[in-house]
Amino acid sequence: MMNKTTDARSELERIDRAADAIRQSIGNTPDVVIVLGSGLGSIADQLENPVVVPYDQLPGFPRTTVAGHRGEWLFGRLGQRQVALQSGRFHDYEGLDMNDIALPMRTMCRLGVKTAVLTNAAGGINRDLSPGSLMLIRDHIGLWAPSVLRGPNLDDLGPRFPDQSSVYDPSLAEIALLCARELDIQLHEGIYAYCRGPQFETPAEIRALERLGADAVGMSTVPEVLAASHGGMKALAISLITNHAAGISKQPLSHQEVLETGKKSAQNTVRLISGILDRL
Ligand code: HPA
Repeated sequence: MMNKTTDARSELERIDRAADAIRQSIGNTPDVVIVLGSGLGSIADQLENPVVVPYDQLPGFPRTTVAGHRGEWLFGRLGQRQVALQSGRFHDYEGLDMNDIALPMRTMCRLGVKTAVLTNAAGGINRDLSPGSLMLIRDHIGLWAPSVLRGPNLDDLGPRFPDQSSVYDPSLAEIALLCARELDIQLHEGIYAYCRGPQFETPAEIRALERLGADAVGMSTVPEVLAASHGGMKALAISLITNHAAGISKQPLSHQEVLETGKKSAQNTVRLISGILDRL
């Protein structure tokens, strides 16, 4: 029978096995990990001579199951920085274990990566946000979702009760805002509400989220930001608004729309992320 200490130890060993396998495939430790949101895969085209590591070559790594999410790491240079691109993320709605969802960020922590840049597709709640808008996530609301840090704590990574006052690093946020201004890209700022999905929200849920102070809504990022910041990484997160949230426009929501708007508006996101990397 396993006890909590051996659970934590075996999870840490799983993370370290994945990190070791990556280390054997790449030259330099990445400066930054970038998580690609739905439809934002084109950032990967900017990488020069990437080393591709599919998840199925990493011991203990789950497979992705979502259309628009590939399931591989790409390592290489983007502008001035050595980056790890995560193409294919894990979501709670896939029925995965919390530790599986946290695994990619924890693997990056153990590799020595210090900064995480996360992108996602999100529904706009704030009326200033329409499809194609970009929103810098200043903070999140995810009270109703079980934490990705649930279960035996991995003390080697971080504390049992981590402070959440600044999980979105203020200095990275300032760099992003400055960079957006320089590139003449409109970057909104707001609060991201995390809903577990896979169903989109109801109009009543969106009205409730609006009253709670949310500007956008999505099904990712929060678990990864928690895992990254727990492991000591600094995080920056940007939402690409792909649709009006439920009830705000008359149109029904679809994953296809999310992917298409993601693709159409990816160019600005890519410019912004590249610019931010150069200014880190
Ligand atoms: N809700 C939840 N997740 C999303 C949405 C949405 O409206 N759009 C893109 N991801």
